[in-house]
Amino acid sequence: MSELTTARLLLRPFEPGDVTAVHAYASDPEVVRYMDWGPNTLAETEAFVADAADPAEGVHLFAVEHEGHVVGAVELRVTNHIHARGEFGYALARSAWGRGLATEAAAAVLAFAFDRAGLHRVAATCDPANTGSRRVLEKTGLTYEGRLKDYLHIRGQWRDRLLYAATR
Ligand SMILES: CC(C)(COP(=O)(O)OP(=O)(O)OC[C@H]1O[C@@H](n2cnc3c(N)ncnc32)[C@H](O)[C@@H]1OP(=O)(O)O)[C@@H](O)C(=O)NCCC(=O)NCCS
Repeated sequence: MSELTTARLLLRPFEPGDVTAVHAYASDPEVVRYMDWGPNTLAETEAFVADAADPAEGVHLFAVEHEGHVVGAVELRVTNHIHARGEFGYALARSAWGRGLATEAAAAVLAFAFDRAGLHRVAATCDPANTGSRRVLEKTGLTYEGRLKDYLHIRGQWRDRLLYAATR
C-alpha cells in the first residue's frame, strides 16, 4: 500500500487508531450531505476503518493527514482494467475546508492514478449543488463532460451527478 506526500499532506493507509478522527467527519451531516453514505453510526465508522486496512483489488484508499491529524479520506477505484479507467472521490472534515487541502489531495491521487496505477482515464462525479467539490475538480484539471440523470439515490431522493474526467 502506497503513501503519498504533498506540501501539506500525508496520504497513507488507514490504521485502527483512526476511528475517532474518521468518526468526527463521517458522523457530520454537513460533510455527508452529498454522499451516498452516512451520517455514520460509530459501528459503521469502526467497520469502515477495519475494512480499510484490507481494501478490495483495485481500490486505493488513503487517510488524509494534515499536521499529524487525520482530516479526511480519498479513494481511487479502478473501474476497468482493460481500458485503464478509474474514479476517485474525497471527503474532508469541516474544520479542514477552505484551505485548498482537498485540491491538494485530489491532485496527488490523480498523479498516482496516471503515474503509478497505470490508468489512462480518471473520472469523478459530484452533486450539482456541491459548488466546493465542483471547484476542486476544475482546479485539479478535470473537464466537465455532462450531467448524469438520477445517478444516485441518496436518503430517499434521486440526485443527478456532474461527470468530470481527465485523461493521461
Ligand atoms: C468539497 C470539499 C472536498 C472541498 O474541500 P476544500 O478543502 O474546502 O476544497 P478547496 O479549498 O481545495 O477548494 C474549494 C473551492 O471551492 C470554493 N467553494 C467552496 N464552497 C463554495 C460555495 N458554497 N460556493 C462557491 N464556492 C465554494 C472555494 O472558494 C474553493 O475555490 P477557490 O480556490 O477558487 O476559492 C469539502 O467541502 C468536503 O469534504 N465536503 C464534504 C464531502 C464532499 O462533498 N465530498 C465531495 C463529494 S463529490
